[in-house]
Amino acid sequence: MQHKNQNLFKPSKEFSRNARIKNICEYYDLWNEAEENFEQFWKNKALEKITWFSPFSKVLNQDNAPFYKWFEGGTLNVSYQCLDRHMKTRRNKVAIMFEGEMGDFEVYTYRRLLHEVCKAANLLKKFGIEKGDRVVIYMPMIPETAIIMLACARIGAIHSVVFGGFSPEALRDRIIDAKAKLVVTADGAFRRGKPYMLKPAVDEALEKDCECVKKVLIVIRNKEQIDYIPGRDYIYNELIKNESYKCEPEIMDSEDLLFLLYTSGSTGKPKGVMHSSAGYILWAQMTMEWVFDIKDMDNYWCSADVGWITGHTYSIYGPLACGATTLIYEGTPTYPNSGRWWRMIEEYQISKFYTSPTAIRMLHADSPNEPKKYDLESLEVLGTVGEPINPNAWKWFYENVGNSKAPIVDTWWQTETGGHMITPLPGATALKPGSATLPLPGIFAQIIDEEGNIKGVGEDGLLCIVKPWPSMIRGIWGDEKRYVESYFSQAKQNGKAVYFSGDGAFYDENGYITITGRTDDVVNVAGHRIGTAEIESAIAKHSSVAESAVVGVEDSIKGETLFAFVVLNRDSSCDLGSSVETLKELNDILRVEIGPIAKIEKILYTPGLPKTRSGKIMRRILRTIARGEEIKQDISTLEDSHIVQTIANLVKAEIE
Ligand code: WT7
Repeated sequence: MQHKNQNLFKPSKEFSRNARIKNICEYYDLWNEAEENFEQFWKNKALEKITWFSPFSKVLNQDNAPFYKWFEGGTLNVSYQCLDRHMKTRRNKVAIMFEGEMGDFEVYTYRRLLHEVCKAANLLKKFGIEKGDRVVIYMPMIPETAIIMLACARIGAIHSVVFGGFSPEALRDRIIDAKAKLVVTADGAFRRGKPYMLKPAVDEALEKDCECVKKVLIVIRNKEQIDYIPGRDYIYNELIKNESYKCEPEIMDSEDLLFLLYTSGSTGKPKGVMHSSAGYILWAQMTMEWVFDIKDMDNYWCSADVGWITGHTYSIYGPLACGATTLIYEGTPTYPNSGRWWRMIEEYQISKFYTSPTAIRMLHADSPNEPKKYDLESLEVLGTVGEPINPNAWKWFYENVGNSKAPIVDTWWQTETGGHMITPLPGATALKPGSATLPLPGIFAQIIDEEGNIKGVGEDGLLCIVKPWPSMIRGIWGDEKRYVESYFSQAKQNGKAVYFSGDGAFYDENGYITITGRTDDVVNVAGHRIGTAEIESAIAKHSSVAESAVVGVEDSIKGETLFAFVVLNRDSSCDLGSSVETLKELNDILRVEIGPIAKIEKILYTPGLPKTRSGKIMRRILRTIARGEEIKQDISTLEDSHIVQTIANLVKAEIE
């Protein structure tokens, strides 16, 4: 229901009555509890939610800040938390429902899932995988992916899932950085009604510099022809049959790593974000309960690919830790038509549905009236993640999918935060389209300046988290210095370095937080994080490119797309007239170096780039020009200030 005075959407009484957090006062009570007695708050939650093998002795160790440690001395196993502990109460409950793109269907009860995970864990042990070893998972969206992840957790191996859309080169970089011992993949899967392949990409990735990888385990999915290297490649489906369904969980310390997940930063190669066992699973579970108000009868669906953090926390670990039923879908939302998702929501009686603004905008643009053809009455909560949602898309989703009654939780968080940080609570928070609203209890998110002063209403500032939280990033794999530099060197409060997210934001008159987007050199294309530095170093491989600068510009479907300013070599054979050809060549390079998600949509050839006297490219100015905005920045300190006008004229000419 719309709140008349403030243009806010109040939660429905019917939903609130049964919700865990029923109104905004209950939210503030929890928030105050966490503020007044920070460690006690987290201690209580950790004792209540986690099945410990042995109790922790210290809630938070800040001695070596910002390398925080949570729940030290405690031992647990995340697969036990997600599976074994449900055996008494939910062994026959459905844990995973799976639908393949071609319509095939699978169900795993909690009992079956536990047994499959144990079998896979035993198999991993036979491959010589031990506690602390890294396993790279390059898989489609099928139940086996969850099984392998949980099997790693069971034996204490650290998984590193690489999104199946990344190229062999990108896969190789991640394998080498993690020094993985094993790669688990599939022959391929189905997408847009056709088989596509993954195994050939693994073969290509392993062609050089991957001596660390001893074996490749292949799950058969689409049954297409693949090459086998004897002694290196093994078929999962055959070997798994011989394994026992019993496997004792490894005893893990709270701070033992659960996984690595690579994500892009503003400089250099992608960084391996490290997540711990106890803190991560605690927050995954708590946020499922608070933000989705997950209940035993729910059929829950998060459409994210498991290659991203959303797939980790909200397709697999979070729902399973809660004993919920989670749906995994293999393919695209538009196959065989754009009613696919709505049909699935109707058929599986999905009650909580979590997806991305890009998918919403795409389905809206494609067939705005399609949802009305289905019975979507089962939906109680909708969620979005990954990028800002524009009020138009929000309204369409709210009215047409949620039937103007399912609240939308616009959840702001990051790979580094492990779980939700700023989000409405479906039974408590009055919604405002386009705003992530309020930080969760226990999360001290503030919009500040570099010195830690809190910004006023409407003022842009740095979105920071000023106290540690259990599911926070523990470091960057193999690079302690980069962790401190990336997250703890931009802002301070009371003399102490605080976590800076890389996002800008402002408060509105209700104290709600609206995210304005990255302030660093990271672009958010269709909810995927892309470092402009990665793009620039890839296209520098083209023989005609002298240098380039890449920025994000607005796109009506993907949120942002890549705009490249390219300086060609003076002796380059390609003249500006053949720019279309060059753009195609550059995108070919990007597909090889990164994958199809990295695609330049707009290109401008320029005689030079605006740089500071120390040689740093002023991307912010280029962003302003590319967006057709007025240049307000001071350009007097540039090495060659005329270049700004030259570029602005070129862009103008292009637009006209
Ligand atoms: C970046 C994190 C969090 C899982 C998926 C993406 C942007 C994320 C929102 C939101 C506006 C958002 C931020 C953030 N972002 N959620 N609700 N509203 N922006 O994870 O790849 O680590 O990207 O996505 O810019 O920093 P990620």
